[in-house]
Amino acid sequence: MEIVLSGIRPTGHLHLGNYFGAMKSFLQLQEEYACFFFIADWHSLTTHPRPGNIVGSVREIIAEYLACGLDPEKVAIYVQSDVKEVLELYLYLNMNAYLGELERTTTFKEKARQQPDNVNAGLLTYPTLMAADILLHRARKVPVGKDQEQNMEMARRFARRFNTTYECELFPEPESFTFSRSAIKIPGLDGSGKMGKSEGNALYLVDDATTIRKKVMKAVTDNGPTEPNSTKPEVIQNLFTILEVVSAPEVYDHFNEQYNRCAIRYGDLKKQLAEDIVAFCTPIRERILEYASDATRIDKVAAQGADKARESASRTLREVRRTIGFRS
Ligand code: TRP
Repeated sequence: MEIVLSGIRPTGHLHLGNYFGAMKSFLQLQEEYACFFFIADWHSLTTHPRPGNIVGSVREIIAEYLACGLDPEKVAIYVQSDVKEVLELYLYLNMNAYLGELERTTTFKEKARQQPDNVNAGLLTYPTLMAADILLHRARKVPVGKDQEQNMEMARRFARRFNTTYECELFPEPESFTFSRSAIKIPGLDGSGKMGKSEGNALYLVDDATTIRKKVMKAVTDNGPTEPNSTKPEVIQNLFTILEVVSAPEVYDHFNEQYNRCAIRYGDLKKQLAEDIVAFCTPIRERILEYASDATRIDKVAAQGADKARESASRTLREVRRTIGFRS
């Protein structure tokens, strides 16, 4: 079966944009492929030498994954730092990764600019560790956002280079699986486009009703349409886009018609939108809290995932060692 691998850095809660983007496609992928979904906690050290509460943030993500419907019986959910095999592959790949190409990576240049006092070797070799994550399972498909394209290109290059250097065909070239093409892009409520954590405009799955209402009521709007059937400006279209995924079709049609008749009252629209988001998020939020309160269960899921990942990893490494010429 074809292998899919996805990695997420433990940087915070999942928001509605993540849900309708990555998560929706994960839920489909878990039915059709052998999936590894892991949390890249080692990668955090490239930017924060002393990240606070790593275990806590990792558990949080696992709880949210489970609450969204990822099934640990179907997929391996694991933590990068639990599967030390990746380090050995990282070392081999680094021996064939060149300073010049690593330095030219845009993400490296950007990070080096952002943290001039901490331009560390881990940051430089971020793409090598990411390639090792992927090649460890000889994954063919990697669901990633557009921002990861260069890292994916590096992973493909390192795979090819390994095969050429050692005259083998051990690693398939991993293909980026851009779910963002098919997925619904959820906008932020501040008119700035995409919903994102760093944009500060996110509605988190774990937000409670009061928080959601507050965020929605603050959404940017305009003075309203002045001509019937006019095109919606972006800030208004944003509200409708979210309405379309969380509300009943009749509700969407109702407000759309009001808009087209220039009779829309944004206050009403926002109130309805807030309630529909609350209705959508509440059951997920309740499941998140339930999982999050049971660390033992979460840790069991991670242990089970790590077992599966180690099994696949050690198979790859045995071949890698033999191919390079080490005792296997
Ligand atoms: N670099 C990815 C990000 O920032 C996270 C990541 C690490 C990853 N290793 C990976 C993604 C392997 C896919 C495959 O989002």
